[in-house]
Amino acid sequence: MAKSFFITTAIDYSNGQPHLGHAYEKIIADVLARSRVCFGEQAFFLTGLDEHGQKVQQAALAEGKTPQAFCDHLAIGWRSLPKTLNLRIDDFVRTTELRHKQVVQAILVKLEREGHFYKAEHSGFYSTRQETFLTEKDRLPNGGFDPFYGEVVELKEENYYFKLAPHQDWLISHIEQNPEFVSPENRRNEVLGFLKNQKLEDLCITRPASRLSWGIPIPFAPEYVTYVWFDALVNYISVPASHGDPIVCQALDLPGSSGEAGARELWPADIHVIGKDILQFHAVYWPIMLRAMGLPLPSRILAHGWWQKDGQRMSKSTGNTVDPQAVVTEWGVDAFRYYVVRELAIGADGNWTDAGFSGRYHSELANGLGNLVNRSLSMVHRYRGGVLPARSNDLEAEAAIASGETESHLRACNPQAALQSIWALIARANQYVDQTAPFKLAKDPHRSARLDEVLYALAETTRVLAVLLWPFLPGTAEKIYAQLGLGNSPNRFTDSSWGGIRPGHQLGPVAPLFPRKDHPKA
Ligand code: ME8
Ligand code: MG
Repeated sequence: MAKSFFITTAIDYSNGQPHLGHAYEKIIADVLARSRVCFGEQAFFLTGLDEHGQKVQQAALAEGKTPQAFCDHLAIGWRSLPKTLNLRIDDFVRTTELRHKQVVQAILVKLEREGHFYKAEHSGFYSTRQETFLTEKDRLPNGGFDPFYGEVVELKEENYYFKLAPHQDWLISHIEQNPEFVSPENRRNEVLGFLKNQKLEDLCITRPASRLSWGIPIPFAPEYVTYVWFDALVNYISVPASHGDPIVCQALDLPGSSGEAGARELWPADIHVIGKDILQFHAVYWPIMLRAMGLPLPSRILAHGWWQKDGQRMSKSTGNTVDPQAVVTEWGVDAFRYYVVRELAIGADGNWTDAGFSGRYHSELANGLGNLVNRSLSMVHRYRGGVLPARSNDLEAEAAIASGETESHLRACNPQAALQSIWALIARANQYVDQTAPFKLAKDPHRSARLDEVLYALAETTRVLAVLLWPFLPGTAEKIYAQLGLGNSPNRFTDSSWGGIRPGHQLGPVAPLFPRKDHPKA
């Protein structure tokens, strides 16, 4: 069996409800995963929950629940997010699952045996909120620490450390030699700057269970639990291991190494989609962990920007957040998916406003795409009884450009640019309706052959659009296919070539895709 295109998102802390930022990341990953399906590949899309650590323990305590009961309850809401967003996921991991904990422990044992860790005492200032020791460099001019770190306490404790010094040089050259490993470019420069300007400090990989009990026990030192980031990053290989991935199972001596039936070849990951705030964990610590385990590195770490709402940081405490479920209920899932992908280039920060959302909905979805599909197919019904006339090639060249560009932008992980190419075709087709004026042609029996040409070109453009749109707006793309009377799914990119719809074909019933919402219903 061939290796699947393996794409992951960050696993979200289970200390609150999903918001726009989490939803955005999952949608970007879904668009890229679906695009690989369109290219004829097997895709495997993994997401999930990061359930251990201080943040979750504190949140559970605040509600008077055990961490496990707290996580089990929250997981119900998080597990419904993929459905709400119409994500085509292949697995959903929770780090409290046995399949995950076993792999984390196997890695700890292996790396301890091979001499990657040492035990040492450290005293210093500790931020519980960020679960990290701070140094003098982190002090503000007034001697305090940034409020971002929350309460900072002085601690003296013994822990296990992961030796990072032997890894700094090879990691720098790997990043330099593989321009796509960290993208976009400004994030790559940020990581290189970090690695070149200082000596990496060893990574503390344990927490004393006396202080933080909510974590995976260290097999060779049960008075400690695993640092939550060492635990969380491993999800990207513990899930492949649970599917019998041969590379992971062999490297870690796990059962399943003999290539069992039903095993999936997943590792190395093709893309880790993450937010810019967790870049260092993914581009520095994770590659080093993998190298120490003897595993190949992921192909690409794609770091997206952060959303604000109305120019402010989203925050539960002030109620300044965007609830993906509420937007989807009001506007439909594809409107939400469209807006977030179209609004931001990967890497840029964004600002959600309800007016901005409604503006794009009305101009680009209702007037742009919806109007084109509706008037094109309605005219075939009105003038030709819903039966497709002979093939014509008006708009073929424009459709070919749009599909070529869409494919290359998707391969380059630039979904926003792909939507721009698709909307250029929509704009051109709407302009073509205005220029050819089919409603006038229909009044003149001598121009019937010309009307046939126009109607075919528009119906076929609509079909090509459905194929190009499927990774982004799968539900809408499928509705367009149904309106065209086509029974299959528009999920094969090869179907975007011109002439796919046959003369004589009978269209299905027409219905508006994106009803306007800015005027009262009649
Ligand atoms: O960091 N805009 O979890 P998390 C865009 N558990 N993206 C945002 C965002 C915003 N306003 N807020 C959060 C963690 N995100 C760890 C990850 S991975 C092995 C462990 C993104 O719940 C954030 O950048 O704090 C991250 O990629 C993801 O949501 C989860 O954030
Ligand atoms: Mg966070």
